[in-house]
Amino acid sequence: MQIGFFDSGIGGLTVLHQAMRDMPGEDYLYYADTDHVPYGRKTKQEIRQYVQEAVDFIAAQDVKALVVACNTATSVAIQDLRARYRFPILGMEPAVKPAVSDTSCTRRILVTATPVTIREEKLQNLLHQVDQHHQVDLLPLPRLVEFAEAGCFTDGQAEAYLREMLAPYDLSRYCTVVLGCTHFNYFKDSFNRILPEDIAMIDGSSGTVHNLHRMLAEQHLLETGSGKVTYYTSGRLAEALRPRYQSLLQRLDEMLTY
Ligand code: DGL
Repeated sequence: MQIGFFDSGIGGLTVLHQAMRDMPGEDYLYYADTDHVPYGRKTKQEIRQYVQEAVDFIAAQDVKALVVACNTATSVAIQDLRARYRFPILGMEPAVKPAVSDTSCTRRILVTATPVTIREEKLQNLLHQVDQHHQVDLLPLPRLVEFAEAGCFTDGQAEAYLREMLAPYDLSRYCTVVLGCTHFNYFKDSFNRILPEDIAMIDGSSGTVHNLHRMLAEQHLLETGSGKVTYYTSGRLAEALRPRYQSLLQRLDEMLTY
């Protein structure tokens, strides 16, 4: 059986990419809700409804587990999903825990995400639990999702936006930037050019895939598939998009050094 990955768009491919590297023998289903992307500026009710429709469809395709490879969808819908489906569901949250528990980081931490993720209770609760030294600042970067969806990776627009959004910050006061939206991973090269060298960037992909692997192993669900990926967009088989998705996976391969 396959492992499902779900996102509003292409962001979740960055997590799928990590899973394909760590678990090349599994088969995967990737579902992008392209009819409704971006989620990050919609209401909670809208996102909940879109996510439920998408996961109803995914549940009918025989998946043994689902990764909600979207911090925004996780922040508003993860509890509903776990109550509604019987297969294991892993969500994503901005990697604040590893950032604050890194004892070598004595300066501030900047968490970037969509506006929904930033204002939702889930992140606020997490900060309440782990940000004991009030080290964390929050920055919504909604336009990065739009640039990613439009394929604007190298034309300078996204980088100019990022520079503008980071300009008010004295970056010498920070030691870590958390990429709390899966779409932001496509811009690691831009972040890297803007951020001072001693700032670390962390995202949730490897932690999520690590948890996925552990959960599958514990439940004896690891198996040897062929590494096949089937792509869907908003309830439709998306064979025609395979070349585009494969070229995005390729871009992620090329960015591995960041
Ligand atoms: N990729 C998603 C996330 O991780 C959200 C993008 C969107 O706004 O749709 O938050």
